Amino acid sequence: LAKIEVKLGDIPEGKSVTFKWRGKPLFIRHRTPSEIQTERSVDVPSLRDPQHDADRVQEAEWLVIIGVCTHLGCVPIANAGDFGGYYCPCHGSHYDSSGRIRKGPAPLNLEVPHYEFPGDGTIIVG
Ligand code: FES
Repeated sequence: LAKIEVKLGDIPEGKSVTFKWRGKPLFIRHRTPSEIQTERSVDVPSLRDPQHDADRVQEAEWLVIIGVCTHLGCVPIANAGDFGGYYCPCHGSHYDSSGRIRKGPAPLNLEVPHYEFPGDGTIIVG
């Protein structure tokens, strides 16, 4: 299926839920106010793959990323690692709650796919 529609109300705050989309894991994370604040205050130039949190999300509460580690393609674990976002157990890459690489061998941030909020409490990815 090219597109996937997800009901946002099914994802509680603080949780990252995994969906399958185009044969890959898709993570949709309902971020907490504290996660949002933490990611908004990161010193962007110090990042390996420098991106502002605001350029990675359309709405601050919702992080939408492809769950494929940019090192060698393992699936990272949610709410783990030194930065509280995602941790890839294969070789130890730590991502933050914006899906940005913070520590370990991965070269790039987790990929943000194309998505939209149609305004009816859902998100459409694809
Ligand atoms: Fe994720 Fe190597 S595949 S750290």
